[in-house]
Amino acid sequence: MTQDEMKQAVAQAALDYVLPKLKADSVIGIGTGSTANCFIDALAAHKGAFESAVASSEASAERLRSHGIEVVDLNSVSGIEVYVDGADEFDPHLNLVKGGGGALTREKIVAAASKEFVCIVDQSKQVDVLGAFPLPVEVIPMARSYVARELAKLGVHPEYRQGFVTDNGNIILDVHDMEILNPKGLERELNDLVGVVTNGLFALRPADLVLMATPEGVETLTV
Ligand code: 5RP
Repeated sequence: MTQDEMKQAVAQAALDYVLPKLKADSVIGIGTGSTANCFIDALAAHKGAFESAVASSEASAERLRSHGIEVVDLNSVSGIEVYVDGADEFDPHLNLVKGGGGALTREKIVAAASKEFVCIVDQSKQVDVLGAFPLPVEVIPMARSYVARELAKLGVHPEYRQGFVTDNGNIILDVHDMEILNPKGLERELNDLVGVVTNGLFALRPADLVLMATPEGVETLTV
């Protein structure tokens, strides 16, 4: 099974999981990235099963609209039934590193506003300890050098993501070569730096469920 086939298989498994939860007036949260795109494409055939979607990026909003799915602003809804999104890494506690696609802040907001967070990945994303994948930190542009110096003081190695601007008009510093032994503590510590909007650790609000594609089939992981 190719990685693309695994992404499609896990998107279908997510669809099978969420469809029974959706009602005609439900709002669904939609993530960003190639696995989330497979989910959007699979969801398109069921657009009558829910009312509308909140997207975690402009790219996902555009893809949803291209399928005729109504996209609404988070401020116009009272809550989200379920959020479906990918990840760059996940650990045994379902803590995540996200933001490889740069959508981490909106992803974290939509996850926070959702009753349930279903993370969809292939097995390449499974790790014992987070940190091999560079951790994205979204930063207000004028604070870029200051935050980079503060990160260096913490003993980590930030790298400016050249030429990339987030949907919120900010920049990304990717922090390399970490062994994240205390994900909740690090998530708080990085968010406390002035100029940081948020970072790509999802440990304070981890996934509720991870659906992981393997060549043998899709596994359901909970804590
Ligand atoms: C985007 C994300 C994505 O969920 C993450 O990068 C995984 O993407 P893909 O499904 O393409 O591997 O956090 O900001």
